Amino acid sequence: MNKIIATEDGSHTLQSGQFDVTYHSIHGAIQETETVFIQAALAYQSQFLNDIRILEIGFGTGLNALMTCLEADERQLNIEYVGVEAYPIKSAMVTQLNYPKLLNALEYQAHFEQMHQAVNQTVAVTPNFNFQLRVDLFEALDYEAAFDIIYYDAFAPNAQPELWEEAQLQKMYKALKAGGVLTTYCAKGAFKRLLKSIGFELHSLPGPKGKREMTRAVKPPLREVPLAD
Ligand SMILES: C[S@@+](CC[C@H](N)C(=O)[O-])C[C@H]1O[C@@H](n2cnc3c(N)ncnc32)[C@H](O)[C@@H]1O
Repeated sequence: MNKIIATEDGSHTLQSGQFDVTYHSIHGAIQETETVFIQAALAYQSQFLNDIRILEIGFGTGLNALMTCLEADERQLNIEYVGVEAYPIKSAMVTQLNYPKLLNALEYQAHFEQMHQAVNQTVAVTPNFNFQLRVDLFEALDYEAAFDIIYYDAFAPNAQPELWEEAQLQKMYKALKAGGVLTTYCAKGAFKRLLKSIGFELHSLPGPKGKREMTRAVKPPLREVPLAD
């Protein structure tokens, strides 16, 4: 059974009964998503692209998708988003999560619930955000050059070591388009060496609160950051 708990910034997370870990950093779920996925991946790619395809590994509570939807609408991006999740959470739990409220986006409550119901079908959640909840195991994915961004949000290597091994990361490399990026909160040395050996270029970035570092892995060739006017 999953249990809702509050993290340090007041935003909820879940304590997983199945894996005995939390879905987000206890130092703040919203601040973690903002740093690891919105800033390090979405803001980075939106310097180059307006139409962006995103694969999320571990849809879970839907917080990453909700914050991405808000960004898409605010910045007029066109986002196609696939959230993969093998063990969707119950709708009674979705309605208790405090994300729309804490993000000052109560008008997105219905959108948030709609995402959790979009099982294996693509829905236009807003004019800027198409979404599909793919109910599947990560291990079953076989995409090729399909995504500009991967939010790699599996449980940590000590809880699910098989999801941080070469076979799985090779699949992620294959799923990205050239110039695509994978971001994750994980910055372990062995993991970063593996990413490099597969062909990724690595950017080590300051992590969210409670973590010194996080990882952005880019599938070459790197795009040139536009010069400011
Ligand atoms: C760190 S949590 C994801 C947090 C999520 N991004 C959020 O914002 O709530 C990892 C997720 O991966 C899911 N998961 C674990 N093993 C999986 C597998 N083999 N295939 C697909 N999903 C899996 C878990 O159910 C959980 O929802």
